[in-house]
Amino acid sequence: MECMILDTMANTTLTRRRLHHLALSVPAPLALTLLGGRMAGVTLAQSADATATSGATPGVAATPVLAPTPACSDDDDDEATLEQTEGPYFTPNSPERASLLEPGVEGTKLVVTGYVYSTDCQPIEGALLDFWQADNDGEYDNAGYTLRGHQFTDKDGRYELTTIVPGLYPGRTRHIHVKVQAPNQPALTTQLYFPDEPSNDSDGIFDPSLVMDLQERDDEAEREEGALGFFTYVLEVA
Ligand SMILES: [Fe+2]
Repeated sequence: MECMILDTMANTTLTRRRLHHLALSVPAPLALTLLGGRMAGVTLAQSADATATSGATPGVAATPVLAPTPACSDDDDDEATLEQTEGPYFTPNSPERASLLEPGVEGTKLVVTGYVYSTDCQPIEGALLDFWQADNDGEYDNAGYTLRGHQFTDKDGRYELTTIVPGLYPGRTRHIHVKVQAPNQPALTTQLYFPDEPSNDSDGIFDPSLVMDLQERDDEAEREEGALGFFTYVLEVA
């Protein structure tokens, strides 16, 4: 992993998105070493409590205590996230929870993490993210709140959703619905997609700008830990 990251760092422009993914996904000492001169003051810590509550496997990644302060660059993060249809299955007043795992929810564990920023590259603290999705069989719980929940970004604009990979249902590619709302601002409704899904190309709603980055899983042990995705939302803030 070290070699891969160092190669990436050496051969590509170090965009803000890459910095964030690095900070979110590598062990703290390595991240600090790699990011040293560019991100003074960053403190990272390992999280050991991402274990699922329903028998899923233990946590998959380091969790930063403090995230890097972003700087506007040539990265495209300063373009507002695309709005998409809400669909027919949104239920208001979901419970506040960062993990949608609970007894009865089965499937491949998925952690999606990232940030909420304004278009002028400022992290948005206290932004609401309300997620809802289909279960492993492609069905929504329209009577209750299974696989529905909202959370708020921390002071660095960071969120982390623990859930399962949603199942497919007819007519759509794999996706997670979300509403993202900065304090005292209108909500952005959109959807989050998975890379390399066969149905992406045939889904009329799908947009490649809304595809999460999924971390490569190199071996069987890592794959058993589930999937780890990254996505940063960018909001127009008045
Ligand atoms: Fe849907």
